Amino acid sequence: MDSLTLDSKTWLLVLTGAGVSAESGVPTFRGMGGLWEDQPVEAVASPEGFRKDPSLVWRFYSERRKGAAAVHPNPGHEAFVAWERHLGDRFLLATQNVDGLHTRAGSQRVVEMHGNLFKTRCSGCERPPFDDATVYPVGAVPACDACGKRLRPHIVWFGEYLDPADLERIETFALQGATSGRLVFLAAGTSGAVFPAAGIVDRVRRAGGETWLVNLDPAENSSRFEHRVVGRSGEVLPGLAKLV
Ligand SMILES: NC(=O)c1ccc[n+]([C@@H]2O[C@H](COP(=O)([O-])OP(=O)(O)OC[C@H]3O[C@@H](n4cnc5c(N)ncnc54)[C@H](O)[C@@H]3O)[C@@H](O)[C@H]2O)c1
Ligand SMILES: [Zn+2]
Repeated sequence: MDSLTLDSKTWLLVLTGAGVSAESGVPTFRGMGGLWEDQPVEAVASPEGFRKDPSLVWRFYSERRKGAAAVHPNPGHEAFVAWERHLGDRFLLATQNVDGLHTRAGSQRVVEMHGNLFKTRCSGCERPPFDDATVYPVGAVPACDACGKRLRPHIVWFGEYLDPADLERIETFALQGATSGRLVFLAAGTSGAVFPAAGIVDRVRRAGGETWLVNLDPAENSSRFEHRVVGRSGEVLPGLAKLV
């Protein structure tokens, strides 16, 4: 197996997907078969679904909160913490996961591109998203203290845009890495099907960066990566990097 050298010139951008949390017991999107209680996931993860049945959406996210609160980070999450300790500001972790396991493991420079299960925001006013681990009772739809409108999970749903500030942070990091050092991009546990995350590999290659993929099954964009390691992230990542 190739090894990934992390030296004093390296700027490492990591992208993670649901696969990295699979060994903690969080089902991947594919693991769920794209369905929840026989309904397409879109019914509980889109603005249309929320308009149609907000209590169903809150039941789904309340269950996911319960599930995510009961699991623990695995050795894959822990490997990123060790790499960040070694690289400091030359490390950035972009994740599509909403389970909060990277920060619970101790990662600090994290961009949660798709939001966070343990945050809630208002669907009506500009009040900033707030921490919320509440598991709401079946049938409940919480309302905003400030304006009375419905609260919603702080999650990027199908058909919604990512926060431009998050994308800019990733872009700025990649540019800085490419111009002042050796830029490396590593994606792990992601099917490479959801954009814009799936396009980061090409962005990094255009900037002259090195690219790595650690995934259990072939990702849709596998061929775009120079180095590919097939396996479980919790088994592969802890032994992959050489910290020098
Ligand atoms: N944990 C979470 O927060 C979570 C879970 C499910 C879905 N989602 C959301 O659903 C979307 C799904 O996209 P995605 O690409 O992240 O996930 P995905 O479910 O589409 O793909 C997961 C990928 O991980 C791989 N994989 C499975 N187990 C693995 C392991 N142990 N080690 C390494 N790779 C493994 C699979 O081969 C697959 O290619 C995302 O937008 C995400 O926000 C998040
Ligand atoms: Zn409000």
